[in-house]
This record gives sequence, C-alpha cells and structure tokens, in this order.
Amino acid sequence: MEIVYNIIVVLHFVGLAMLLGAFLLQLTAKEKTVTRWMFDGAMTQLLTGLIMVGMLESGVMGAEEQEEINHVKIAIKLVIVIVVAILAAVGRRRQSPQTALWLIIGLLTLTNVVVAVFV
Ligand code: HEM
Repeated sequence: MEIVYNIIVVLHFVGLAMLLGAFLLQLTAKEKTVTRWMFDGAMTQLLTGLIMVGMLESGVMGAEEQEEINHVKIAIKLVIVIVVAILAAVGRRRQSPQTALWLIIGLLTLTNVVVAVFV
C-alpha cells in the first residue's frame, strides 16, 4: 500500500507544479490570464489530497499514520483549493486580461504551500 500512497504523493506534487507553474510562467507576461492548467492543477490537488487523507484515515497505512493526521491543516487546504478551483472555473469563462483572478489564484496556491509546510 505504501507504494500506492507514494505515487499519490508524487501526483500531489505534479498538481502543485501545474497550478503554481501556470501562475509563475505569467509573471513577466503583459496580459495575465487564467489557464486550464490552473483548474486542472487544483483538481489534481483536490483528488490526490482526498485519496491520501482517505488512505490515512482508513488505517490501511497503519495506526501510527492515522493518529498523525493534522485535521486543521487538511481543512484549511481543502477550503483554499475549492476556492481556487471555483476562481479558475470562473476565469476560464471570462476574457483576458484577468490580472486580479490570476493574482488571487497564485497567492492562494502559495498560501497552501505555506500551510502545508508550517501548520
Ligand atoms: C493548492 C492546494 C494544495 C497544495 C499547494 C498542497 C501542498 C502540499 C505540499 C507542499 C505537501 C508536502 C508537505 C507536507 O507533507 O506537508 C502536501 C502534502 C499533503 N497534502 Fe497537500 N496541498 C494542497 C491541497 C491538499 C488537499 C485539498 C488535501 C486534502 C484534502 C491535501 C492533503 C495532503 C496530505 C494528506 C499530505 C501529506 C503527504 C505526506 O507527506 O504523506 N493537500 N501538500
């Protein structure tokens, strides 16, 4: 089961790269826009995150791992990623430039990285 869990962790980092990469790539662009990578990245984070939590909670990874789950951290990241996904979906329907939406999505994604590491 550990190999399956570790593959999901890798995909969690791929999702982060999709989301943050789509934001950072446009730092130098004149017209910022919301790209589909942002929505797909947010969905990847949501899906892989939920699978990991499910595996940890169910006890298949062992009782010790089950006890170590930080529910506050998970709840914050869950709410933030849902907001990011909604903003990305809204942004895809609007015309460029979408500087405000692009910036909020990027800052919320960075917030989730900080939460993941520090909380
Ligand atoms: C934009 C959204 C997200 C970002 C940027 C993000 C970022 C990260 C990062 C950097 C890590 C590795 C550091 C650590 O182990 O704490 C991580 C791990 C983890 N994340 Fe997320 N995350 C996001 C969304 C979510 C969501 C929505 C969930 C759950 C519903 C989740 C659940 C987890 C779990 C369970 C781990 C632990 C993996 C392990 O080391 O065993 N994440 N996340």
